[in-house]
Amino acid sequence: MSENVGRAFQRASSYERERLEQEERTLDWRSRPPAYKFYTHVPVISLPSPLPTPDEPPLPDLLTCVARRRSLRSFAAAPLTLLELSRLLWASAGITARFTTPYGQDFYRAAPAAGALYPIETYLVVSKVENLEPGLYHYRVAGVDMLERPIAEGSHSLEQLQTGDFRSAVAGAALDQPFVARAAVVFLWTAVFARSEWKYRERAYRYVYLDAGHMAAHLALAAVALGLGSCPVAAFYDQEANAFLGVDGSAEGVVYMAAVGRPSRPFATRRPEAELTARPKA
Ligand SMILES: Cc1cc2nc3c(=O)[nH]c(=O)nc-3n(C[C@H](O)[C@H](O)[C@H](O)COP(=O)(O)O)c2cc1C
Repeated sequence: MSENVGRAFQRASSYERERLEQEERTLDWRSRPPAYKFYTHVPVISLPSPLPTPDEPPLPDLLTCVARRRSLRSFAAAPLTLLELSRLLWASAGITARFTTPYGQDFYRAAPAAGALYPIETYLVVSKVENLEPGLYHYRVAGVDMLERPIAEGSHSLEQLQTGDFRSAVAGAALDQPFVARAAVVFLWTAVFARSEWKYRERAYRYVYLDAGHMAAHLALAAVALGLGSCPVAAFYDQEANAFLGVDGSAEGVVYMAAVGRPSRPFATRRPEAELTARPKA
């Protein structure tokens, strides 16, 4: 019986001591693919600062957010604020620090990524966000200078690719899962595979999925911190999802999605987490 494709991939992308030690390990920086994607000639909307201000009430602590997180598929009709969306984007994909490469400065981001290569792009189907037209958007992580080097100016903004109601199109691509159409925002993460392949070759195909998973986990916890809910979605028709975003599925393809919205009932009415985590009486 022939080996199935998943197992063949796992084997072919395994590191083996003998093979790895023989391989040429130096990186050719001149052949590094561009680390940022931009849409030009589209409206660009800058997002409010995601960081908490001193005058706002503190957000729930991290462990409370972990305890409260559940995949949410029942969304209220109320919209998200632009500040909430800004925080979700920043917590999952935003820049948090600088570092230096042989070609100048670059940025670390909120979620870890293998080799700091950041192969994952974020697209949004916006349906219900205050002061933001419904439509399809792409997250601009950082700006660029005249030499196309990343800079902080122009970072953390949205490129408006198309306005319109894309709820049924995105839910259709997501295996017709109805809750996806009821989300205030759907995050769609694509991988630009070459960014990671440049360094990791076949093994890159393991790492890009892990990178996307970290971003989704950050999004899920940030959503809970803001009193929102999310559900990860990996069940989608690949061709439909890629065609929806206008990517080819090979150089760049959808790897993951998440539906986000306001919960249709407050967290407090759900089963208290203390019940599950309480220590037994001595
Ligand atoms: C990789 C992955 C893919 C998922 N895809 C879907 C999906 O397509 N549709 C869905 O309703 N839930 C999806 N989920 C959510 C899981 O069903 C959910 O995480 C699981 O039931 C555990 O529940 P919890 O998230 O509330 O802890 C996915 C979760 C993961 C991690």
